[in-house]
Amino acid sequence: MAWYDRHARDLPWRVLPAARAEGVRTDPYRVWLSEVMLQQTTVAAVDRYFRRFTTLWPRVEDLAAEEDARVMAEWAGLGYYARARNLLACARVVTRDHGGRFPDGREALLALPGIGPYTAAAIAAIAFDRPETVVDGNVERVMARRFAVEEPLPGAKKLLTEHAARLTPDQRPGDYAQAVMDLGATICTPRNPACGICPWSDDCAARAKGIATELPRKMAKKPK
Ligand code: ADE
Repeated sequence: MAWYDRHARDLPWRVLPAARAEGVRTDPYRVWLSEVMLQQTTVAAVDRYFRRFTTLWPRVEDLAAEEDARVMAEWAGLGYYARARNLLACARVVTRDHGGRFPDGREALLALPGIGPYTAAAIAAIAFDRPETVVDGNVERVMARRFAVEEPLPGAKKLLTEHAARLTPDQRPGDYAQAVMDLGATICTPRNPACGICPWSDDCAARAKGIATELPRKMAKKPK
């Protein structure tokens, strides 16, 4: 957390630790929108789409009231149009059935269109500070290295999730979830991890064994 307090990336959907400590609330709508956009799209690419969407539609009710074609036109370039259709469907359910407020628990979030286990956990943790375990590809890589998990993906997913769950703290779970994702994106990178400046280097079993860059292992793809 000390590392995140100093090095958190200033992303447009994020409330930085200093502001959070001052009581600035994280808007669930912005967390939801960013997490849906970030599925299979990079942070760099999402940046301008996120700014554009939240300028056009600052609240979930605004998005829900928009015409489908208009939203699809703004989504162009992000790809995976099913995501945009689910986005609108979800905005309309939240507006109509929940009075424009996202539910704060993982189970209720999972019931919404287009929200799967990852997104539900991310919203519950980041927007509502619930101690949910948020596991994306970055987190899998960090856990595989920290615990020197040599079993290849995808088989190792369950074990990596268990490791991630055990580390999830009761204090500041939202910041913690984002800290591990930032660590994976900026320090514990796939090819050249910056172990020399990693806050977890002393705890990292893969580093101790000299195999950090080899992890996570991946099952050889079956020839088609
Ligand atoms: N990737 C997906 N969601 C993210 C988040 N909230 N912070 C950093 N990277 C992310």
